Amino acid sequence: MEKRLFGKTCFKISPLGLGTWVFGGWPWNEVSEAECEKTIEKALSLGINLIDTAPFYGFGRAEEIVGQTLKRLKKREEVVLATKAGLCWEKGKKKKAWRDVSKKNILREIDESLKRLQTEWIDIYQIHWPDEKTEIGETMEAMFELKECGKIKVIGVSNFSAEQMRECLKYAPLESLQAPYNYFQREIEKEILPFCIENNIGVLSYGTLRKGLLTGKFNLENRPNDPVRQPAWDPMFAPENYSKCLKEIEELKIKADEKNIPLAQWVIEWTLEQPGITCALAGARNASQLTHL
Ligand SMILES: NC(=O)c1ccc[n+]([C@@H]2O[C@H](COP(=O)([O-])OP(=O)(O)OC[C@H]3O[C@@H](n4cnc5c(N)ncnc54)[C@H](OP(=O)(O)O)[C@@H]3O)[C@@H](O)[C@H]2O)c1
Repeated sequence: MEKRLFGKTCFKISPLGLGTWVFGGWPWNEVSEAECEKTIEKALSLGINLIDTAPFYGFGRAEEIVGQTLKRLKKREEVVLATKAGLCWEKGKKKKAWRDVSKKNILREIDESLKRLQTEWIDIYQIHWPDEKTEIGETMEAMFELKECGKIKVIGVSNFSAEQMRECLKYAPLESLQAPYNYFQREIEKEILPFCIENNIGVLSYGTLRKGLLTGKFNLENRPNDPVRQPAWDPMFAPENYSKCLKEIEELKIKADEKNIPLAQWVIEWTLEQPGITCALAGARNASQLTHL
């Protein structure tokens, strides 16, 4: 897999990155720890060197799995490891979550992530969601401190607008954005991607397969049943949108068939051809799914 330079950083990353949200279980259907470890191993063997995780995925579980696997395989140095901060949860009440991007909270979270990931540094540290309760200057001050002391290499944000990124740049060298982007969800093309191109900010796009829909495996009878794929989490799964998108998927399948590749692969190739996208993140619940991407 030919590597790409990630924005202004010195990282050379694979154009396909492994997302680990599903490793956390809820709101996805459960997946075993052994299967997650095999998926990471497979990803590395396929040449994927970017792994994205977050404390919120499984309330620490996804980070722990990534950490223990990289340690066992002795592959930490070879991987560009991305994680996040700023989404908190009440222990024992997993559905109660809130945003906290205060300096105090970020400086607390980093040490918990480093411990779970069994590493001394994070390559790309991202503010998971913006939170208007805290001034961006305060959040960036914390991120800059972490970069200065070597706990993180690159400052990143996720789900930020162009205006919010412009504000970040007043206080710290912002070098990475993670944003939702797939064939059905292209809002970032308007302002966010042009801003990243102009400022040479590396972009990790997420939801590339629209939670599996863009693999073409679902239909009107075979609908996913986990909470993450219900209308409350993702409007694409509301009945009226779902049937409309299944029709569009049939048209995309024809394009994939013309190239003699699986739809998921066609979708990833399409994503990577779009200006400004450096790396498409895709989640996989087992090693076999990865081999079909
Ligand atoms: N920053 C943020 O706010 C944010 C938000 C969302 C995601 N992310 C990141 O982006 C990553 C990717 O996004 P995502 O996990 O939402 O979804 P995705 O990549 O759009 O979809 C992943 C899901 O599709 C299914 N799938 C994957 N490959 C398949 C194949 N070959 N055949 C059939 N099914 C397949 C699997 O689910 P099933 O087997 O259950 O169908 C898998 O969990 C996340 O893991 C996370 O790291 C970040």
